[in-house]
Amino acid sequence: MSDSAVADSTAPEPVPELEASHLSLHLGRSRGGLQVLDDLSLKVRTGRRIGLVGESGSGKSTLLRVLAGLQRPDSGQVRFRGRSILGRRPGQLADLRADVALVLQDPRSSLDPRMSVARTITEPLRSPVLSGAAGSREQVRQRLVQVMTEVGLDPATAGRFPHEFSGGQRQRIAIARALVTRPDVLLADEPVSALDVSVRAQVLNLLTELVSARNLTMVFVSHDLTVVRHLCDEVAVMQHGAIVESGDLARVYADPQHRVTRELLAAVPRIRT
Ligand SMILES: Nc1ncnc2c1ncn2[C@@H]1O[C@H](COP(=O)(O)OP(=O)(O)O)[C@@H](O)[C@H]1O
Ligand SMILES: [Mg+2]
Repeated sequence: MSDSAVADSTAPEPVPELEASHLSLHLGRSRGGLQVLDDLSLKVRTGRRIGLVGESGSGKSTLLRVLAGLQRPDSGQVRFRGRSILGRRPGQLADLRADVALVLQDPRSSLDPRMSVARTITEPLRSPVLSGAAGSREQVRQRLVQVMTEVGLDPATAGRFPHEFSGGQRQRIAIARALVTRPDVLLADEPVSALDVSVRAQVLNLLTELVSARNLTMVFVSHDLTVVRHLCDEVAVMQHGAIVESGDLARVYADPQHRVTRELLAAVPRIRT
């Protein structure tokens, strides 16, 4: 064996973009309550796209909120680029807020109906946590036009309100808002599940293009394993707040080890690996 091979095998692994270690979260009263996250660990490596799948109620949305710093676990650790995010004050979360974006399932509930599209999309730039990120009025306007164009919205409609848009367009508004700070990581929680079937493919294609053009690291929650195969290169399967199987997507799809994974794959008869 050459010296370089020895050096490679002992080289430290690069620090993951996001890392959850031994997360536990119990909600409700201790007896009647529910273990929503159960000693869950997950590494989100730079440039990787992880499909997070599992039956309804398995804790997928909760995990994304914890990774985004929006919900605290009872125990465990979340590190962004190697630094713990738990225990930081809101003012110390600027890097996470700017670089990790969250897109939720239903744009109806995630968009404020009283806010124009322009305000909705540029609001993250005004956040006090990101003080100084906004730049001049002209810079903000340029960023708005750029990001609206990028997600396929006409910048001339920036003065309108969310209800004047279709479901698919509203999700484009939510995506533009998520991307306006130029994040490196996208956390997407079933981003097309609430949309009409007819527009799902368009929004998925948009996400595919954005992820590739911006070289985003992504965690993509979905119950559609065909979509996950299209968008992701790793898969993590959740059950009862724990990850029961994870790894390279091609490997997991070709040779699922856990019963839950096999059932999820069997539920999509058209999948061929
Ligand atoms: N605020 C809450 N209070 C009590 N239970 C909750 C709360 N949020 C989520 N849950 C429960 O936690 C479990 C996991 O929920 P969730 O993370 O939304 O799962 P998933 O996204 O996989 O469907 C579910 O049983 C849900 O009912
Ligand atoms: Mg969910």
